[in-house]
Amino acid sequence: MPEQEVILHVEDLKMHFPIKRGVIQRTVGYVHAVDGVTFDVYKGETLGLVGESGCGKTTAGRTILQLYKPTAGKVVFEGKDLVQLKSEEMRQTRRKIQMIFQDPYASLNPRMTVEEIIGEPLLVHNIEHGKEIRDHVKDLLELVGLNPAYVDRYPHEFSGGQRQRIGVARSLALKPDLIVCDEPISALDVSIQAQVVNLLEDLQKELGLTYLFIAHDLSMVRHISNRVVVMYLGILVEMADRKTLYENPLHPYSIALLSAVPIPDPKIEEKRKRIILEGDVPSPINPPSGCRFRTRCPLAQSICAEQRPEWKEVEPGHYVACHFWNNTKSLQRR
Ligand SMILES: Nc1ncnc2c1ncn2[C@@H]1O[C@H](COP(=O)(O)OP(=O)(O)OP(=O)(O)O)[C@@H](O)[C@H]1O
Ligand code: SF4
Ligand SMILES: [Mg+2]
Repeated sequence: MPEQEVILHVEDLKMHFPIKRGVIQRTVGYVHAVDGVTFDVYKGETLGLVGESGCGKTTAGRTILQLYKPTAGKVVFEGKDLVQLKSEEMRQTRRKIQMIFQDPYASLNPRMTVEEIIGEPLLVHNIEHGKEIRDHVKDLLELVGLNPAYVDRYPHEFSGGQRQRIGVARSLALKPDLIVCDEPISALDVSIQAQVVNLLEDLQKELGLTYLFIAHDLSMVRHISNRVVVMYLGILVEMADRKTLYENPLHPYSIALLSAVPIPDPKIEEKRKRIILEGDVPSPINPPSGCRFRTRCPLAQSICAEQRPEWKEVEPGHYVACHFWNNTKSLQRR
């Protein structure tokens, strides 16, 4: 069990992107990409962040890293609110949080060598120079299971899995404590996915890393996560330790997502109840009033359109945002 020391505290974080129109670029509305999310990440754990495409996962990750200036909220990392820090202190603190990207083809500059790609953060932060960087990059290549002799090669000379290893090596250059892994395996062949997950797990043990691991379905984070949080249309709907979330999900959306995950036991699989969600995810420009999920929820009542359900700890460590969280058992598959 990881110790329960909070490394990252995110509080009511919002990221609204303005929509501009016309010659004078007037703001005509906002994309409510992240709309008030609150959660903690514990030191040494992997917290899986799951949700459908467009629900705001990447935006949440980028806003935590302050790559976007949040519309509102707090991002307290190792005791400091990054939103309030002045530039130099922010630079120093931000080094300790890194991101690994979804697409290992698009995220590496094709005109840079492996040494330049992995060594860039060291150069930018003025930490090492020349031969020091080269040696450090070779060590990092070895750490991620690549041949150190590849330092002068270019990204196109590597496979997808190898490129993702280069991305991982780059993220490790500044010795981070927290890594936001943004769907790091989704773009890879299924045969390669397990290798990259194993690498991330080994590195976590060896270096004491903490991961916020983003994925679009629950099966992807099942093995790697200690806890899982489910996101829908800019908000969080449920968070619990892995066992609880997979065995006793309480939010109708999590239950529906889980009903789509096959069960390895054929006897149980045969009887598996699938919940098909009607309709599409609504637009984050005009999200539904009250509960965001109400337009697709099989249990929706009139109060769901009127009041936003509170993000509530219903059992120790188990958070749910649903007015009827204690009445969703009928949807569960067992
Ligand atoms: N820079 C931006 N400017 C305006 N809107 C944006 C921007 N980035 C994302 N969005 C919008 O915010 C919403 C959330 O996008 P985001 O990329 O965070 O979702 P996601 O959960 O990561 O999706 P995916 O699984 O497809 O990666 C989407 O509606 C998207 O179109
Ligand atoms: S609050 Fe209402 S609409 Fe939202 S998930 Fe719960 S029952 Fe469904
Ligand atoms: Mg994304």
